[in-house]
Amino acid sequence: MAAKIIDGKQIAKEVREQIKKEVAELGFKPGLAVILVGDDPASQVYVRNKHKSCGEVGMYSEVHRLPAETSQEELLQLIDKLNNDDKIHGILVQLPLPDHIDEKMVIDAIALEKDVDGFHPANVGNLVIGDDCYYPCTPHGCMVMLEKCGIDPKGKKAVVVGRSNIVGKPVAMMLLAKHATVTICHSRTQNLAEECRQADILVAAVGRPEMITGDMIKEGAVVIDVGINRTEDGKLVGDVHFESAKEKASWITPVPGGVGPMTITMLLQNTLEAAKRSAKK
Ligand code: GUN
Repeated sequence: MAAKIIDGKQIAKEVREQIKKEVAELGFKPGLAVILVGDDPASQVYVRNKHKSCGEVGMYSEVHRLPAETSQEELLQLIDKLNNDDKIHGILVQLPLPDHIDEKMVIDAIALEKDVDGFHPANVGNLVIGDDCYYPCTPHGCMVMLEKCGIDPKGKKAVVVGRSNIVGKPVAMMLLAKHATVTICHSRTQNLAEECRQADILVAAVGRPEMITGDMIKEGAVVIDVGINRTEDGKLVGDVHFESAKEKASWITPVPGGVGPMTITMLLQNTLEAAKRSAKK
């Protein structure tokens, strides 16, 4: 079987058009504050793209670029200021943070109603119990892609490879909420290939270039590749070996152009949602 491609770029475009329309109808601008500490090159690109994307859908955004030596106290003070700023509906602290800053303390300090990244422990707890929450952006993007392709996880066997707090764990919870039978695999899983071959829906989020190969995929499976890895020759590849996997899968996300464009889109969606909720208060 040659897989159909899940076109993340196109889906992201459609969702952003809808967001833009809703922003225009809102009567005020949703506001996002992004904080970047230090000069990690990848983070700089992400933050620039987030800022640009906000402008494209008519949102207000401000970027706080802080030097790598910024103290934890200074960062917490800025978060406190943004928590109390009425024009800001969402706050995102770009990760990773420099080693001298305690990531957990920083995430905990973001007001729950402005946690558009969905990383605050109370948000994560609400996700687990199925209560009102912001879905973390990358896993949310994966779920929207499934939905847009008419793929219902109900009753299906889903295998998630990777157990990070940002992707693996939350996407497993979201698939469970959609009534999939979910297995989470990780670096200590015995016989990973065998586990993967059980999957009707396979989500790869390990950060290891092309480690999921076609022989690990069940005929007709849906494959969502969250990995973005740069090879030695500068090429971007996912966690899935695309060429062999596409011969087995029924649907597959490419890298680039798959999950990637969805992440910022879902950040915009969460910021819009945060703005709507603030207006109801
Ligand atoms: N670094 C890599 N991905 C993310 C993300 O989704 N949010 C934040 N805040 N930092 C990241």
